Amino acid sequence: MPLQRLITATLLAINTITFAQNKQPMSKLIQSEYQFANKQYKYLMKGIPRDKMPQSYNASSNQVTTRDITWWCSGFYPGSLWMIYEQTSDPEIKKEAERTLHLIETNKTFTRDHDLGFMMFNSFGNAYRITKDPLYKEIILTSAESLSTRFHPGMQAILSWDKMADFKGPVIIDNMMNLEMLVWASQNGGDKKLKEIAIAHANTTIKNHFRPDYSSYHVIDYDINTGQVLGKKTFQGYSDSSAWARGQGWALYGYTMMYRFTKDEKYLNQARNIAKFILNNPTLPKDKIPYWDFNDPKIPDVPRDASAGAIMASALLELGQYVKTDERKNYVDNARQMLISLSGAQYHAKLGENGGFILMHSTGGLPLHSEIDVPLIYADYYYMEALKRYKDWYL
Ligand code: GLY
Repeated sequence: MPLQRLITATLLAINTITFAQNKQPMSKLIQSEYQFANKQYKYLMKGIPRDKMPQSYNASSNQVTTRDITWWCSGFYPGSLWMIYEQTSDPEIKKEAERTLHLIETNKTFTRDHDLGFMMFNSFGNAYRITKDPLYKEIILTSAESLSTRFHPGMQAILSWDKMADFKGPVIIDNMMNLEMLVWASQNGGDKKLKEIAIAHANTTIKNHFRPDYSSYHVIDYDINTGQVLGKKTFQGYSDSSAWARGQGWALYGYTMMYRFTKDEKYLNQARNIAKFILNNPTLPKDKIPYWDFNDPKIPDVPRDASAGAIMASALLELGQYVKTDERKNYVDNARQMLISLSGAQYHAKLGENGGFILMHSTGGLPLHSEIDVPLIYADYYYMEALKRYKDWYL
């Protein structure tokens, strides 16, 4: 066994024993995690230039890496700050949440890719939910209109990226997440066409993005005029036929969220089947944090993706809201294990370390040689969200 793998296995074993013995109730864990996040993000905020958003952390140079505001993840930092503020009422956190919200406001007319939902709803959506400031709602409605311009009636889907690499009309499974802003906007003063677009996109994705075992392809390449499928591919996964872990998380979250808004059983059943694929997968480790791709033949000697674990935990907690007792217990038990794992020493940073991010061990784009086994801002976001959901629904 290679040394790195031996160290990881030992840490995981220690982790499992710690949590087997840890009788700390979830209420305490959630409270202490938010207190920790409050302090840790004050550390994070000191390491970023005023005009940039935190992305990750480079341990060898001890530098937080940052990106411009049009980066797809620019909404996660303000969104996490709003969730931390909601739980702790710390004015310094609120100030930073407001500052960074203003910084990304100009994205509301951004139409160069499909990620506007991530950018503007995870940020302004949380801000509006907490403050009810009508200005935030206006910004969300404008953003939803901007995103809707990427809908192509011929393919009945929103185009993820403009022509790129070998793809002519790429739609990625991640795109399901951006539908939340469209449906919310439609139900909160926006045009009803926004919801119709979201439904069309979700239906097209059910038709073309899934294999018989309910795992998802990453990229479907379309002829944008006719909707003809030109290819079923990957961009960030191990192979075209593999199940890239975060993609399965986006799919699970996306269909659960679409059921929330529409109550269409088709979406609920899709989410249940995706959950089955994830939770029954023989490569899902005991701590329930997936390897970066369910089909990497080098498992277990490959990186995990804590961000996928956090997204799945948050989605499973919502899915548990829509099903009966035994099924709910399965989803909540698995989500709880994910949260306990993420809060343990294997994945969780110490105060003042990890550049100020909360979680370690996420993987952004392994085949792209990018963001491998590092902290990522959206892992923290979905971890914060899952803790809140557990507190609101299951304590
Ligand atoms: N939406 C890009 C990713 O999940 O990496």
